[in-house]
Amino acid sequence: MATITILPDHLISKIAAGEVIERPASVIKECVENSLDAGATSIEIHLKDAGKSLIHIKDNGTGISQNDLEKLFFRHATSKIKNEDDLSHINSLGFRGEALYSIGAISDVTLKSKTLNQSEGWEIHVRGTQRLSLKPAATTLNGTEIEIKELFFNTPARKKFLKSNTTEINQILNILIPYTLLHYKTRFLLTHQGSPLIDLPTDENLTKRIAQSLHIEEKYILEKKYPKDQNDMAIQIVLGDINIKRARRDLQFLFINGRPVQHKNISFHLNQVYRLIMPPTDYPFFYVDILIPPDDVDVNVHPTKREVKLKDEQHLCMLLRNITEEILMKNGQIKEAASSFSPAHTFKNTTIRIKENKTDSLEPWEGQSEKSPNNNIPHSPSISEQLFFIPEANFHRKNKENLQSRLQNAKFIGGFLNKYLLFEENHSLLLIDQHAAAERVNYEKFLNQIRKGQIEVQHLLTPITLKLTPQEFLTFEEIKDTLEKIGFSNNQWDATSIAIHSHPIFIKNIERAIRNLLAERSVEKYDMDAIARRACRSSVMTGDKLQDPEAEKLKQQLIECFDPFTCPHGRPTVVELTEDFLDKQFLR
Ligand SMILES: Nc1ncnc2c1ncn2[C@@H]1O[C@H](COP(=O)(O)OP(=O)(O)OP(=O)(O)O)[C@@H](O)[C@H]1O
Ligand SMILES: [Mg+2]
Repeated sequence: MATITILPDHLISKIAAGEVIERPASVIKECVENSLDAGATSIEIHLKDAGKSLIHIKDNGTGISQNDLEKLFFRHATSKIKNEDDLSHINSLGFRGEALYSIGAISDVTLKSKTLNQSEGWEIHVRGTQRLSLKPAATTLNGTEIEIKELFFNTPARKKFLKSNTTEINQILNILIPYTLLHYKTRFLLTHQGSPLIDLPTDENLTKRIAQSLHIEEKYILEKKYPKDQNDMAIQIVLGDINIKRARRDLQFLFINGRPVQHKNISFHLNQVYRLIMPPTDYPFFYVDILIPPDDVDVNVHPTKREVKLKDEQHLCMLLRNITEEILMKNGQIKEAASSFSPAHTFKNTTIRIKENKTDSLEPWEGQSEKSPNNNIPHSPSISEQLFFIPEANFHRKNKENLQSRLQNAKFIGGFLNKYLLFEENHSLLLIDQHAAAERVNYEKFLNQIRKGQIEVQHLLTPITLKLTPQEFLTFEEIKDTLEKIGFSNNQWDATSIAIHSHPIFIKNIERAIRNLLAERSVEKYDMDAIARRACRSSVMTGDKLQDPEAEKLKQQLIECFDPFTCPHGRPTVVELTEDFLDKQFLR
């Protein structure tokens, strides 16, 4: 049995720091939250080396008095709570007194501050928990300025884990942008190596700020406010219409009591409403700001406070769902579709899944069929649903050659829902998922063309222009030459848009292909294979009706593929229902 040791303080501080500060983006989150808690109306952030060598943040908030400055960088030093009671009514972003301590434990920090009442500022210098100096500072401006250098200088394992500058900046944008929306009256400036990445003036209007910060058009967003109800809850919601679609949930923002949070259940329900007007591969824009009594929410469940626990989650989800439907319907977008929304429909969307091999999973719970995180909508499956929707084991996928040759002999007998192609062979029904099959065929063809350097392209008479989010823009900068090589000739159009002048011939939905390609967070992961896979995501739509010869052609092309029975993302392309299986279902 190993002996137990009590860890020394310096080690404890490094471990604790690691929970709060994982990368430059976490430093920015903590410091921006401090500035906002201090009532700042201007926050400037300057980075060098994606923050790895310098993060310099300046705010015009209340500042920190000389007395308090002495207490900074100690663990649990906070001005935001005093006793246990306060924990249940937190109305600041910070409350643990952990952030500055953690930052000081793994970097070299100088913090300068001046309050309105002080004639001069003071400055404290800390390096890896060591307090090096506390002295008057030459500053006349009220507010706080913090310079963080050499991040993770004493935790090399953490430092090694940091990704490329593009990826780290992307993470920073992901963290910062939600605050720029919620605090739309605050000025935000973010620069990297001297060039501005975000430059938002003091603003008065939420929709204008959303448009400016996310590079989307104001005319495509709808805003609605619901003042406090009998439960003391207020909601402000801004929804994108069908013109704003993304490959990821990049444009989805949820705030609870002034804190950007992630909540799978709420997000699931809002996306479900949009499923009525958008295909499952597209994600809409939404911004939901909820104010609820602090007693009804617990933010103390995760070290980074990103997850919250809600008292009456079910009620809130249903309320948001109704509100979203109402707003979208009023805008004339879903009408009949909304009435077709029934628990049975949800059941089908949520429970029927053939297990996916998520080789190219975009997000942990993203997929063609979304799964309700809590399976909240009550519905007991009917007998027919129970019998028919039985998992994978009943869809025999025989070995490759056998199935290939049987598919060769199979006769096309029709299509189902413009989604599945039905083929009959001996005592089996073979179903081809036309979308997955076309993806496989196009992916192999495309990869081949890339390898040979002979890509068939379509030139466009008028270019397609796309407005990109700041994150997409960053990725575009990194991969624009690669895009060019694979047939998407491109250039920057204006400060927020790009133009596409040609595309690989088989790509039908160019915008979706480009956004899929720009949705990768870690550009390090991009090899030609990943690029071809992402581009092919948009090669064919599920809803296209295929005529008999086209269905036969697709079958033939699929048979000739190197790896015909899975799509590039790991889903099956063909499933077999044997006579035996069907007999069993009919209790024969
Ligand atoms: N930019 C700032 N302006 C004014 N005061 C600040 C600023 N940054 C930090 N402080 C003061 O320093 C204290 C410690 O900050 P720190 O971020 O470590 O803890 P916290 O914000 O109280 O809690 P948390 O760890 O949850 O963020 C704060 O409570 C606040 O009083
Ligand atoms: Mg804080």
